[in-house]
Amino acid sequence: MTAIRNQTATTSLDVEGLRADFPILHQQVNGHRLAYLDSAASSQRPRAVIDAITHYYEHDHANVHRGVHTLSHRATDAYEGAREKVRSFLNAASTKEIVFTRGTTEAINLVANSLGASLRSGDEIVLTELEHHANIVPWQMLAERTGVELRVIPINDAGELILDDYPDMLNSRTRLVSVAQVSNALGTINPLDRILRPARDRGILTLVDGAQAIPHMPVDVRALDCDFYAFSGHKMCGPTGIGALYAREAVLSELPPWQGGGDMILTVSFSGTTYNELPYRFEAGTPNIAGAAGLGAAIDYLDNIGMAAIENYEAELLAYATEAMAAVQDVQLIGTAEQKAGVLSFNLDAIHAHDLGTILDHQGVAIRTGHHCAMPVMEHFGIAGTARASLAFYNTRADIDQLIEALQVAREMLR
Ligand code: ALA
Repeated sequence: MTAIRNQTATTSLDVEGLRADFPILHQQVNGHRLAYLDSAASSQRPRAVIDAITHYYEHDHANVHRGVHTLSHRATDAYEGAREKVRSFLNAASTKEIVFTRGTTEAINLVANSLGASLRSGDEIVLTELEHHANIVPWQMLAERTGVELRVIPINDAGELILDDYPDMLNSRTRLVSVAQVSNALGTINPLDRILRPARDRGILTLVDGAQAIPHMPVDVRALDCDFYAFSGHKMCGPTGIGALYAREAVLSELPPWQGGGDMILTVSFSGTTYNELPYRFEAGTPNIAGAAGLGAAIDYLDNIGMAAIENYEAELLAYATEAMAAVQDVQLIGTAEQKAGVLSFNLDAIHAHDLGTILDHQGVAIRTGHHCAMPVMEHFGIAGTARASLAFYNTRADIDQLIEALQVAREMLR
Protein backbone atom coordinates (compact mmCIF):
# COMPACT_ATOMS: atom_id res chain seq x y z
CA MET A 1 0.00 0.00 0.00
CA THR A 2 1.20 3.53 -0.71
CA ALA A 3 3.00 4.90 2.32
CA ILE A 4 1.92 8.51 2.53
CA ARG A 5 -1.70 9.29 3.15
CA ASN A 6 -3.29 12.64 3.86
CA GLN A 7 -5.60 12.69 6.84
CA THR A 8 -7.02 16.19 6.54
CA ALA A 9 -9.50 17.70 4.16
CA THR A 10 -7.26 20.65 3.44
CA THR A 11 -4.45 18.78 1.69
CA SER A 12 -4.90 17.02 -1.62
CA LEU A 13 -4.56 13.29 -2.01
CA ASP A 14 -1.61 11.43 -3.45
CA VAL A 15 -3.96 10.08 -6.10
CA GLU A 16 -1.30 8.58 -8.35
CA GLY A 17 0.00 6.70 -5.32
CA LEU A 18 -3.49 5.49 -4.50
CA ARG A 19 -4.11 4.44 -8.11
CA ALA A 20 -1.03 2.23 -7.87
CA ASP A 21 -2.93 0.23 -5.22
CA PHE A 22 -5.64 -0.70 -7.76
CA PRO A 23 -4.35 -3.33 -10.22
CA ILE A 24 -7.48 -3.22 -12.39
CA LEU A 25 -7.08 0.45 -13.27
CA HIS A 26 -3.83 -0.17 -15.12
CA GLN A 27 -5.04 -1.74 -18.32
CA GLN A 28 -5.99 -0.84 -21.86
CA VAL A 29 -9.63 -1.29 -22.83
CA ASN A 30 -10.42 -1.37 -26.53
CA GLY A 31 -6.96 -0.02 -27.23
CA HIS A 32 -7.26 2.93 -24.87
CA ARG A 33 -6.22 3.79 -21.32
CA LEU A 34 -9.11 2.74 -19.01
CA ALA A 35 -11.07 5.65 -17.56
CA TYR A 36 -13.26 3.89 -14.99
CA LEU A 37 -16.18 6.21 -14.28
CA ASP A 38 -18.74 3.71 -13.00
CA SER A 39 -17.98 3.53 -9.28
CA ALA A 40 -21.57 4.33 -8.31
CA ALA A 41 -22.51 0.96 -9.81
CA SER A 42 -19.52 -0.76 -8.24
CA SER A 43 -16.15 0.58 -7.11
CA GLN A 44 -12.81 -1.11 -7.72
CA ARG A 45 -10.73 -2.86 -5.05
CA PRO A 46 -7.23 -2.06 -3.86
CA ARG A 47 -4.65 -4.83 -3.57
CA ALA A 48 -5.06 -4.76 0.24
CA VAL A 49 -8.68 -5.96 -0.09
CA ILE A 50 -7.86 -8.61 -2.68
CA ASP A 51 -4.98 -9.83 -0.46
CA ALA A 52 -7.18 -9.93 2.65
CA ILE A 53 -9.65 -12.22 0.89
CA THR A 54 -6.90 -14.44 -0.51
CA HIS A 55 -5.15 -14.59 2.87
CA TYR A 56 -8.40 -15.55 4.55
CA TYR A 57 -9.02 -18.43 2.15
CA GLU A 58 -5.39 -19.58 2.13
CA HIS A 59 -4.93 -19.55 5.92
CA ASP A 60 -8.02 -19.05 8.05
CA HIS A 61 -11.18 -20.39 6.47
CA ALA A 62 -13.62 -22.48 8.53
CA ASN A 63 -17.14 -21.87 9.73
CA VAL A 64 -17.71 -19.17 12.36
CA HIS A 65 -19.13 -19.30 15.90
CA ARG A 66 -19.23 -23.09 15.87
CA GLY A 67 -15.94 -24.90 15.96
CA VAL A 68 -13.56 -25.40 18.85
CA HIS A 69 -10.63 -25.74 16.48
CA THR A 70 -8.07 -23.05 15.63
CA LEU A 71 -9.25 -22.27 12.10
CA SER A 72 -12.81 -21.73 13.29
CA HIS A 73 -11.51 -19.33 15.93
CA ARG A 74 -9.49 -17.47 13.31
CA ALA A 75 -12.47 -17.26 10.95
CA THR A 76 -14.62 -15.98 13.82
CA ASP A 77 -11.98 -13.41 14.69
CA ALA A 78 -11.85 -12.22 11.05
CA TYR A 79 -15.65 -11.98 10.91
CA GLU A 80 -16.18 -10.33 14.29
CA GLY A 81 -13.12 -8.13 13.77
CA ALA A 82 -14.77 -6.80 10.61
CA ARG A 83 -17.96 -6.10 12.57
CA GLU A 84 -15.96 -3.97 14.99
CA LYS A 85 -14.40 -2.11 12.03
CA VAL A 86 -17.86 -1.37 10.63
CA ARG A 87 -19.01 -0.19 14.07
CA SER A 88 -16.06 2.16 14.35
CA PHE A 89 -16.39 3.41 10.74
CA LEU A 90 -20.04 4.37 11.38
CA ASN A 91 -19.39 5.49 14.96
CA ALA A 92 -22.13 3.15 16.21
CA ALA A 93 -22.31 2.60 19.96
CA SER A 94 -22.04 -1.19 19.90
CA THR A 95 -21.34 -4.13 17.61
CA LYS A 96 -24.79 -5.40 18.64
CA GLU A 97 -26.09 -2.71 16.29
CA ILE A 98 -24.23 -4.01 13.21
CA VAL A 99 -25.96 -6.76 11.22
CA PHE A 100 -24.07 -8.12 8.22
CA THR A 101 -26.21 -8.43 5.11
CA ARG A 102 -25.59 -9.06 1.41
CA GLY A 103 -25.72 -5.31 0.89
CA THR A 104 -28.03 -2.30 1.00
CA THR A 105 -30.89 -4.09 -0.71
CA GLU A 106 -30.95 -6.95 1.78
CA ALA A 107 -30.56 -4.51 4.69
CA ILE A 108 -33.67 -2.60 3.61
CA ASN A 109 -35.56 -5.84 2.98
CA LEU A 110 -34.64 -6.92 6.51
CA VAL A 111 -36.27 -3.79 7.94
CA ALA A 112 -39.27 -4.04 5.61
CA ASN A 113 -39.89 -7.61 6.76
CA SER A 114 -38.98 -7.33 10.40
CA LEU A 115 -40.41 -3.92 11.25
CA GLY A 116 -43.08 -4.58 8.64
CA ALA A 117 -44.41 -7.51 10.69
CA SER A 118 -45.92 -5.03 13.15
CA LEU A 119 -47.32 -2.57 10.58
CA ARG A 120 -50.99 -2.49 9.71
CA SER A 121 -53.29 -1.21 7.01
CA GLY A 122 -53.43 2.58 7.19
CA ASP A 123 -49.92 2.96 8.66
CA GLU A 124 -47.75 5.20 6.51
CA ILE A 125 -44.14 5.17 5.29
CA VAL A 126 -42.53 8.27 3.81
CA LEU A 127 -40.07 7.89 0.91
CA THR A 128 -38.76 10.32 -1.69
CA GLU A 129 -38.99 10.55 -5.46
CA LEU A 130 -35.18 10.26 -5.56
CA GLU A 131 -34.94 6.72 -4.21
CA HIS A 132 -33.46 3.81 -6.12
CA HIS A 133 -35.51 0.67 -6.40
CA ALA A 134 -33.97 -0.93 -3.30
CA ASN A 135 -35.67 1.75 -1.20
CA ILE A 136 -38.99 1.59 -3.05
CA VAL A 137 -39.85 -1.98 -3.97
CA PRO A 138 -39.47 -3.60 -0.50
CA TRP A 139 -41.97 -1.02 0.80
CA GLN A 140 -44.33 -1.61 -2.11
CA MET A 141 -44.20 -5.35 -1.39
CA LEU A 142 -44.96 -4.58 2.26
CA ALA A 143 -47.83 -2.34 1.15
CA GLU A 144 -49.26 -5.20 -0.92
CA ARG A 145 -49.05 -7.54 2.07
CA THR A 146 -50.34 -5.20 4.78
CA GLY A 147 -52.11 -2.19 3.25
CA VAL A 148 -49.41 0.18 4.50
CA GLU A 149 -49.52 3.42 2.50
CA LEU A 150 -46.50 5.08 0.90
CA ARG A 151 -46.13 8.86 0.79
CA VAL A 152 -43.51 10.37 -1.48
CA ILE A 153 -41.57 13.63 -1.03
CA PRO A 154 -41.31 15.18 -4.54
CA ILE A 155 -38.24 16.67 -6.24
CA ASN A 156 -37.74 19.82 -8.28
CA ASP A 157 -36.10 19.99 -11.71
CA ALA A 158 -32.66 20.39 -10.18
CA GLY A 159 -33.15 17.02 -8.51
CA GLU A 160 -33.52 18.42 -5.00
CA LEU A 161 -36.19 17.38 -2.53
CA ILE A 162 -39.07 19.82 -2.09
CA LEU A 163 -39.47 19.80 1.67
CA ASP A 164 -42.02 22.60 2.14
CA ASP A 165 -44.93 20.22 2.75
CA TYR A 166 -42.86 17.47 4.33
CA PRO A 167 -43.58 18.24 8.02
CA ASP A 168 -47.31 18.06 7.21
CA MET A 169 -46.85 14.61 5.64
CA LEU A 170 -45.91 13.28 9.09
CA ASN A 171 -48.84 12.32 11.27
CA SER A 172 -49.92 9.82 13.92
CA ARG A 173 -50.03 7.03 11.30
CA THR A 174 -46.45 7.58 10.04
CA ARG A 175 -44.24 4.69 11.13
CA LEU A 176 -41.04 5.25 9.16
CA VAL A 177 -39.22 7.80 7.02
CA SER A 178 -36.77 6.07 4.65
CA VAL A 179 -34.49 8.24 2.55
CA ALA A 180 -31.25 8.10 0.56
CA GLN A 181 -28.38 10.20 1.83
CA VAL A 182 -27.13 10.63 -1.76
CA SER A 183 -29.10 9.94 -4.95
CA ASN A 184 -27.48 7.28 -7.13
CA ALA A 185 -29.01 8.64 -10.33
CA LEU A 186 -28.34 12.36 -9.83
CA GLY A 187 -25.78 12.66 -7.04
CA THR A 188 -27.96 14.98 -4.94
CA ILE A 189 -26.92 15.09 -1.28
CA ASN A 190 -30.13 15.24 0.68
CA PRO A 191 -30.42 17.58 3.69
CA LEU A 192 -30.80 14.75 6.19
CA ASP A 193 -31.10 16.99 9.18
CA ARG A 194 -34.23 18.64 7.74
CA ILE A 195 -35.70 15.21 7.05
CA LEU A 196 -34.70 13.19 10.10
CA ARG A 197 -35.29 15.76 12.83
CA PRO A 198 -39.04 16.36 12.23
CA ALA A 199 -39.52 12.58 12.20
CA ARG A 200 -37.51 12.09 15.36
CA ASP A 201 -39.42 14.89 17.11
CA ARG A 202 -42.61 12.92 16.47
CA GLY A 203 -41.15 9.58 17.56
CA ILE A 204 -41.13 8.22 13.99
CA LEU A 205 -38.40 5.75 13.01
CA THR A 206 -35.89 6.76 10.34
CA LEU A 207 -33.85 4.75 7.84
CA VAL A 208 -30.99 6.22 5.82
CA ASP A 209 -29.96 4.46 2.62
CA GLY A 210 -26.24 5.17 2.63
CA ALA A 211 -25.24 3.13 -0.42
CA GLN A 212 -24.07 6.17 -2.41
CA ALA A 213 -22.90 8.26 0.53
CA ILE A 214 -20.56 5.98 2.44
CA PRO A 215 -17.86 5.86 -0.29
CA HIS A 216 -17.74 9.65 -0.50
CA MET A 217 -17.96 11.22 2.97
CA PRO A 218 -17.56 10.55 6.69
CA VAL A 219 -20.65 8.89 8.17
CA ASP A 220 -21.57 9.10 11.85
CA VAL A 221 -24.82 7.36 12.70
CA ARG A 222 -24.90 8.88 16.18
CA ALA A 223 -24.54 12.39 14.79
CA LEU A 224 -27.23 11.62 12.20
CA ASP A 225 -29.34 10.15 15.00
CA CYS A 226 -31.06 7.76 12.57
CA ASP A 227 -32.55 4.42 13.63
CA PHE A 228 -31.28 2.45 10.63
CA TYR A 229 -28.41 2.97 8.17
CA ALA A 230 -27.91 0.61 5.22
CA PHE A 231 -24.86 0.28 2.97
CA SER A 232 -23.02 -2.04 0.58
CA GLY A 233 -19.37 -3.08 0.70
CA HIS A 234 -18.82 -3.20 -3.05
CA LYS A 235 -19.40 0.53 -3.53
CA MET A 236 -16.67 1.34 -0.97
CA CYS A 237 -13.79 -0.77 -2.28
CA GLY A 238 -15.01 -3.94 -0.53
CA PRO A 239 -16.25 -7.22 -2.01
CA THR A 240 -19.66 -7.81 -3.56
CA GLY A 241 -22.22 -9.73 -1.50
CA ILE A 242 -21.44 -8.06 1.81
CA GLY A 243 -22.83 -4.95 3.45
CA ALA A 244 -24.45 -4.06 6.71
CA LEU A 245 -27.44 -2.66 8.46
CA TYR A 246 -26.83 -0.38 11.42
CA ALA A 247 -29.85 -0.47 13.71
CA ARG A 248 -30.15 1.39 16.99
CA GLU A 249 -29.98 -1.25 19.74
CA ALA A 250 -33.19 -0.13 21.46
CA VAL A 251 -35.05 -0.51 18.14
CA LEU A 252 -33.39 -3.72 16.94
CA SER A 253 -33.96 -5.48 20.24
CA GLU A 254 -37.73 -5.05 19.76
CA LEU A 255 -37.81 -6.43 16.21
CA PRO A 256 -38.55 -10.06 15.36
CA PRO A 257 -36.09 -12.07 13.26
CA TRP A 258 -36.82 -12.23 9.56
CA GLN A 259 -34.90 -15.25 8.25
CA GLY A 260 -34.72 -18.50 10.21
CA GLY A 261 -31.88 -21.01 10.35
CA GLY A 262 -28.57 -21.71 11.98
CA ASP A 263 -26.74 -19.09 14.07
CA MET A 264 -29.86 -16.98 14.75
CA ILE A 265 -31.12 -19.43 17.40
CA LEU A 266 -30.23 -20.37 20.97
CA THR A 267 -32.29 -23.55 21.20
CA VAL A 268 -34.49 -25.39 18.73
CA SER A 269 -37.09 -27.99 19.52
CA PHE A 270 -40.39 -28.94 17.95
CA SER A 271 -42.08 -27.54 21.02
CA GLY A 272 -40.52 -24.13 20.40
CA THR A 273 -37.40 -22.23 19.40
CA THR A 274 -35.57 -19.44 21.20
CA TYR A 275 -33.57 -16.82 19.37
CA ASN A 276 -30.00 -15.67 19.71
CA GLU A 277 -28.90 -12.31 21.07
CA LEU A 278 -28.15 -9.23 18.94
CA PRO A 279 -26.93 -9.02 16.27
CA TYR A 280 -26.85 -12.78 15.53
CA ARG A 281 -30.64 -13.03 15.71
CA PHE A 282 -30.65 -11.33 12.30
CA GLU A 283 -27.91 -13.41 10.66
CA ALA A 284 -29.31 -16.82 9.73
CA GLY A 285 -27.04 -19.38 8.11
CA THR A 286 -23.34 -19.40 7.33
CA PRO A 287 -22.42 -15.79 6.54
CA ASN A 288 -20.11 -14.28 3.94
CA ILE A 289 -16.99 -14.57 6.09
CA ALA A 290 -14.47 -13.80 3.36
CA GLY A 291 -16.63 -10.86 2.31
CA ALA A 292 -16.54 -9.50 5.85
CA ALA A 293 -12.75 -9.91 5.96
CA GLY A 294 -12.51 -8.01 2.67
CA LEU A 295 -14.88 -5.30 3.91
CA GLY A 296 -12.76 -4.92 7.03
CA ALA A 297 -9.68 -4.43 4.84
CA ALA A 298 -11.57 -1.87 2.72
CA ILE A 299 -12.47 0.07 5.87
CA ASP A 300 -8.82 0.03 7.01
CA TYR A 301 -7.82 1.28 3.57
CA LEU A 302 -10.36 4.12 3.51
CA ASP A 303 -9.60 5.06 7.13
CA ASN A 304 -5.95 5.30 6.25
CA ILE A 305 -6.71 7.81 3.48
CA GLY A 306 -9.30 9.64 5.58
CA MET A 307 -12.93 10.09 4.49
CA ALA A 308 -12.76 13.87 4.93
CA ALA A 309 -9.81 14.01 2.53
CA ILE A 310 -11.72 11.83 0.04
CA GLU A 311 -14.78 14.08 0.30
CA ASN A 312 -12.70 17.17 -0.32
CA TYR A 313 -10.81 15.73 -3.27
CA GLU A 314 -13.93 14.38 -4.95
CA ALA A 315 -15.77 17.69 -4.54
CA GLU A 316 -12.97 19.40 -6.48
CA LEU A 317 -13.00 16.71 -9.16
CA LEU A 318 -16.79 16.89 -9.51
CA ALA A 319 -16.62 20.68 -9.92
CA TYR A 320 -13.96 20.23 -12.61
CA ALA A 321 -16.04 17.60 -14.40
CA THR A 322 -19.25 19.63 -14.18
CA GLU A 323 -17.58 22.66 -15.72
CA ALA A 324 -15.97 20.59 -18.46
CA MET A 325 -19.23 18.85 -19.26
CA ALA A 326 -21.19 22.10 -19.41
CA ALA A 327 -18.82 23.27 -22.12
CA VAL A 328 -19.65 20.32 -24.42
CA GLN A 329 -22.21 21.40 -26.97
CA ASP A 330 -25.57 19.61 -26.84
CA VAL A 331 -24.96 18.05 -23.40
CA GLN A 332 -27.87 18.31 -20.99
CA LEU A 333 -26.91 17.75 -17.37
CA ILE A 334 -29.65 15.94 -15.46
CA GLY A 335 -29.46 16.75 -11.77
CA THR A 336 -28.03 20.14 -10.94
CA ALA A 337 -28.56 20.21 -7.19
CA GLU A 338 -26.45 22.62 -5.20
CA GLN A 339 -25.13 19.81 -2.99
CA LYS A 340 -23.90 16.83 -4.98
CA ALA A 341 -21.49 13.93 -4.57
CA GLY A 342 -19.82 11.67 -7.05
CA VAL A 343 -22.27 11.65 -9.98
CA LEU A 344 -22.71 13.40 -13.31
CA SER A 345 -25.85 12.31 -15.15
CA PHE A 346 -26.38 13.65 -18.63
CA ASN A 347 -27.76 13.17 -22.08
CA LEU A 348 -26.18 14.20 -25.35
CA ASP A 349 -28.78 15.68 -27.65
CA ALA A 350 -31.10 12.96 -28.95
CA ILE A 351 -28.48 10.20 -28.81
CA HIS A 352 -29.75 7.15 -26.93
CA ALA A 353 -27.78 6.77 -23.69
CA HIS A 354 -26.91 3.13 -24.49
CA ASP A 355 -25.44 4.13 -27.87
CA LEU A 356 -23.45 6.82 -26.15
CA GLY A 357 -22.19 4.36 -23.55
CA THR A 358 -21.07 1.96 -26.27
CA ILE A 359 -19.17 4.65 -28.17
CA LEU A 360 -17.50 5.78 -24.96
CA ASP A 361 -16.54 2.19 -24.14
CA HIS A 362 -14.81 1.94 -27.51
CA GLN A 363 -12.61 4.77 -26.26
CA GLY A 364 -11.83 3.14 -22.92
CA VAL A 365 -14.38 5.16 -20.94
CA ALA A 366 -16.60 3.07 -18.64
CA ILE A 367 -19.88 4.73 -17.62
CA ARG A 368 -23.33 3.39 -16.80
CA THR A 369 -26.34 4.12 -18.99
CA GLY A 370 -30.06 3.60 -18.45
CA HIS A 371 -32.43 4.25 -15.58
CA HIS A 372 -29.89 3.39 -12.86
CA CYS A 373 -32.51 1.42 -10.91
CA ALA A 374 -34.27 4.71 -10.21
CA MET A 375 -37.13 4.74 -12.73
CA PRO A 376 -39.26 7.30 -10.83
CA VAL A 377 -36.40 9.82 -11.18
CA MET A 378 -36.35 9.24 -14.94
CA GLU A 379 -40.14 9.60 -15.01
CA HIS A 380 -39.83 12.97 -13.27
CA PHE A 381 -37.55 14.24 -16.03
CA GLY A 382 -39.61 12.58 -18.79
CA ILE A 383 -36.65 10.56 -20.06
CA ALA A 384 -35.93 6.86 -20.49
CA GLY A 385 -32.48 7.11 -18.97
CA THR A 386 -29.22 8.98 -18.76
CA ALA A 387 -25.55 8.43 -19.26
CA ARG A 388 -23.91 8.54 -15.83
CA ALA A 389 -20.27 9.16 -15.06
CA SER A 390 -19.55 8.47 -11.41
CA LEU A 391 -16.41 9.23 -9.45
CA ALA A 392 -14.20 7.74 -6.79
CA PHE A 393 -11.05 9.08 -5.13
CA TYR A 394 -8.93 7.09 -7.62
CA ASN A 395 -10.25 9.13 -10.54
CA THR A 396 -8.25 12.03 -11.89
CA ARG A 397 -8.69 14.97 -14.23
CA ALA A 398 -7.17 12.74 -16.93
CA ASP A 399 -10.24 10.47 -16.62
CA ILE A 400 -12.53 13.47 -17.02
CA ASP A 401 -10.56 14.82 -19.98
CA GLN A 402 -10.80 11.39 -21.64
CA LEU A 403 -14.57 11.38 -21.07
CA ILE A 404 -14.95 14.83 -22.62
CA GLU A 405 -12.85 13.87 -25.64
CA ALA A 406 -14.88 10.70 -26.09
CA LEU A 407 -18.10 12.74 -25.93
CA GLN A 408 -16.82 15.02 -28.68
CA VAL A 409 -16.11 11.96 -30.81
CA ALA A 410 -19.64 10.68 -30.14
CA ARG A 411 -21.13 14.03 -31.14
CA GLU A 412 -19.24 13.97 -34.43
CA MET A 413 -20.22 10.37 -35.13
CA LEU A 414 -23.89 10.61 -34.38
CA ARG A 415 -25.08 14.00 -35.45
N1 ALA B 1 -27.60 1.15 -7.55
C1 ALA B 1 -26.44 0.90 -8.36
C2 ALA B 1 -26.20 2.00 -9.35
O1 ALA B 1 -26.57 3.11 -9.08
C3 ALA B 1 -26.42 -0.43 -8.96
O2 ALA B 1 -25.63 1.78 -10.39
